[in-house]
Amino acid sequence: MIETDLQEIIVAKTLFITGASSGIGAATAKAAAAAGWNVGLFARSEDKLNALVAEIGAQAIALPGDATSYEAQKNALDKLAAKFGSVDAVFANAGRGTSQGGTEKGDPEDWKAMVDLNVMGALYTAHAAMPYLRKTTGQYVVTGSAAGRRHIKGSIYGATKFFIHGFAGNLADEMAEWGGRCMVVSPGMVNTAFFDEAKPDKLQPDDVASAVMHALEAPAHVAVREIHLMPVG
Ligand SMILES: NC(=O)c1ccc[n+]([C@@H]2O[C@H](COP(=O)([O-])OP(=O)(O)OC[C@H]3O[C@@H](n4cnc5c(N)ncnc54)[C@H](OP(=O)(O)O)[C@@H]3O)[C@@H](O)[C@H]2O)c1
Repeated sequence: MIETDLQEIIVAKTLFITGASSGIGAATAKAAAAAGWNVGLFARSEDKLNALVAEIGAQAIALPGDATSYEAQKNALDKLAAKFGSVDAVFANAGRGTSQGGTEKGDPEDWKAMVDLNVMGALYTAHAAMPYLRKTTGQYVVTGSAAGRRHIKGSIYGATKFFIHGFAGNLADEMAEWGGRCMVVSPGMVNTAFFDEAKPDKLQPDDVASAVMHALEAPAHVAVREIHLMPVG
């Protein structure tokens, strides 16, 4: 009898993740599901999302789409809320680098595609999710970077992450007005498909996923505003 009552009271929360098909996003999806969350997995690679859903089970749904499209993110969030009843947190994590480093030698067309994803994509997640997060007094988590905290010669990628850090602080203040929370996770080098070569001695995707889960599972009166993690050495 008591167990039944408890089951009714403890309702699983739901997390929307962009860039969920690999690296930090996929690791966070697995960590969140293991902690009892439902997860909506958003990225362009439908095959990878389906494989992840098969691994995680009924707590996960694949939401294929391009994060540079506001409509695609909004439709995915609507689908996720319809499936699980609410959206309690979002993780705006989809991001990419540039093929050519530096400003003078950079490729403006490639910058535009990167800004569309790293900057506009994260803003779209926030705007499309906010009505849902207000209902659940929820959380917005975004992937910044060590490259958004210190200057790197000529880096346009780093500049997109400076934007993310600035935006996350501003959004944290806006969401705090109704009890919502916003956190930026800023890792140094992580061993993911972001790099062509493996980085086994750097941070692992699970390390970043643990940091995200720390913020998501923090007591309601604790706003974790930033977690900055670096590999040792
Ligand atoms: N690795 C690092 O050292 C490091 C350090 C600091 C911050 N970060 C940041 O961490 C985040 C995740 O990167 P990662 O390291 O985990 O690399 P990753 O394994 O390459 O993951 C990138 C994710 O973004 C998705 N994505 C790319 N373009 C997209 C688009 N247009 N629409 C939707 N999804 C898109 C990819 O999926 P699809 O290709 O299937 O769409 C993939 O799921 C990025 O914001 C990155 O800037 C990485």
